[in-house]
Amino acid sequence: MKMITAVRGFKDILTDQVDTWLRIETESRELFTAFGFEEIRTPILEKTELFTRGIGESTDIVEKEMYTFLDRSDEQVTLRPEATASIIRAYIEHHLYAANPITKLFTIGPMFRRERPQKGRLRQFHQINVEVLGIEDPRMDAELLFMLKELFAKLGVANLRLYINSLGCPRCRPRFREAILVFLKDKEEILCDDCRRRLKKNPLRVFDCKIAECQAVITDGPELLDFLCADCIDHFDNLQHYLNILSISYEINKKMVRGLDYYTKTTFEIIAPSAGAQNAVAGGGRYDGLVELLGGPDIPGIGFAIGCERLIASLPSMKEIQSAGKLQLFVAAMGEKAELFAYTLVNRLRISGISAEMDLGGKGLKGQMKRADKLRSGHVLIIGERELTDRKVVLRNMRTGSQRTLDIGNLEASVINAMKER
Ligand code: HAM
Repeated sequence: MKMITAVRGFKDILTDQVDTWLRIETESRELFTAFGFEEIRTPILEKTELFTRGIGESTDIVEKEMYTFLDRSDEQVTLRPEATASIIRAYIEHHLYAANPITKLFTIGPMFRRERPQKGRLRQFHQINVEVLGIEDPRMDAELLFMLKELFAKLGVANLRLYINSLGCPRCRPRFREAILVFLKDKEEILCDDCRRRLKKNPLRVFDCKIAECQAVITDGPELLDFLCADCIDHFDNLQHYLNILSISYEINKKMVRGLDYYTKTTFEIIAPSAGAQNAVAGGGRYDGLVELLGGPDIPGIGFAIGCERLIASLPSMKEIQSAGKLQLFVAAMGEKAELFAYTLVNRLRISGISAEMDLGGKGLKGQMKRADKLRSGHVLIIGERELTDRKVVLRNMRTGSQRTLDIGNLEASVINAMKER
């Protein structure tokens, strides 16, 4: 029979990688909780309109990358390409703003974009996503970046660069739009079909085009930072002031527009320069009009998303952590009586939270030790007839090589204590 493979751009996360995934998720949860965030989980499938309205009709995501289909009752639905729109939908639908004027949420999970798969680019990928609603103050923008930086530091990721920009607000955009249109007036033929079409709807998207000719044209084009209104200039200056106060280094990238339409004022990306073409590990920004655009009250917001696969690719070698293994104790038993003793011990230890294993396949001592080795067990306990008679067993720490003799009478408690020691 022909083998069935996974869908292109969709990847299995195999058992040997799960530790790394758990580690980044646990570190994130702990840190976000300390900063006052709470976890939310929204559905993976949403009505298509949520994303066309939220992300913007002329974005690459909405125009080309969404997994959209009619379900059996002819409703148009989409696998979420990002989490922000879904979180805001839930925030509005459940009136979360009424209970708490400042809402800090995070979510971790899969997103779907039908892009061309390549290194660092998948069709199902995962994001760690954070959103703050109800605060306009640039201190919040800087604080989020501080938290993000701290997460990368905790995970041991080095050599990242933070790029910031301001995309202004609906007050500064029209003048900028005019300036782009004037600049591109006699250059339209050089642009790709997409850009020519977008020029009418949303000229900002030309900055986002991946085609080299369009990029070359727009390089000398006007920059939004030169068109900011007094309010936005003030916000951007203050953001930089607080980034300096929090000792966060950054560079301004005037050309960075981000691929989603909802951004206002602060935008940012974290880049791993050594990661190749797909080097943005995280991205985000402020979206002060999005809640209203999605049918809610006028509430400002800001957030970011980290790409988990790209984050994992930039982690330092996990060898040391992996070599520790997950199994805490392997009990090698020789003879029927010892096996029965080990059988109860292993199962009792497991319900006390100790990961313990033994052989149920009739292997000799050598074979059992080999298995303990393969499982990278932290400790080994050897029980034979003699140990049962002497009422003493030896617990060996496989990493340090040290041994200790334990009394069989209260073996379970002694093993639990020994496992707690590092
Ligand atoms: P984004 O820049 O589209 O922003 O995605 C954030 C991160 O997700 C990227 O920096 C990248 O690491 C990862 N990513 C995106 N597409 C792929 C892909 N095809 N394969 C692998 N990784 C990918 C957002 O999604 C916004 N919702 C972020 C945000 C939250 N803004 C405000 N709040």
